[in-house]
Amino acid sequence: MTEAEGGKVIESLRLRLHALNDLALTLKHVHWNVVGPHFIAVHEMLDPQVEAVRSMVDATAERIATLGGSPTGTPGALAAERTWEDYSVGRAQAIEHLGALDVVYSGIIEDHRAAVAATEGTDPVTQDLLIEHLRSLELFQWFVRAHLESAGGKLSTGSADGESAAGRAAVDQARRQP
Ligand SMILES: [Fe+2]
Repeated sequence: MTEAEGGKVIESLRLRLHALNDLALTLKHVHWNVVGPHFIAVHEMLDPQVEAVRSMVDATAERIATLGGSPTGTPGALAAERTWEDYSVGRAQAIEHLGALDVVYSGIIEDHRAAVAATEGTDPVTQDLLIEHLRSLELFQWFVRAHLESAGGKLSTGSADGESAAGRAAVDQARRQP
């Protein structure tokens, strides 16, 4: 790997680090703010996800350091450099948070997959790390989506755009079910 290629990998990992740190905080926010009859299921489902994402954060930061970069883990840098909005749902029913979390997971998975494509041929070690993350991130999205799915495999959030709309769509669909 040339120095320029290494610099590009470090640059792309910088945003992956922010995204994973953001996800770990957001999952805890949901863990604390979920209410309603499905509280305990969602509350308890999320802590193992937080733990797994925190270890992805650590591995990503240490990969940046291994490549000669300086991993930035401060909240100010995260908020200033991220390309997405803060999670928008506060205290809410489980189904609303799950609809919104599905959108959060889609965003991070899409960007992780783009980073996998970008490291193809230049850094198979970083690529392998990102693929390993994706295996868990996609599994966790399935856990979330299983709550939103009908027996026919249709997602209640449908084509809702953005996490607030997805959360509302999931609530509407749950109300329509007998
Ligand atoms: Fe807790």
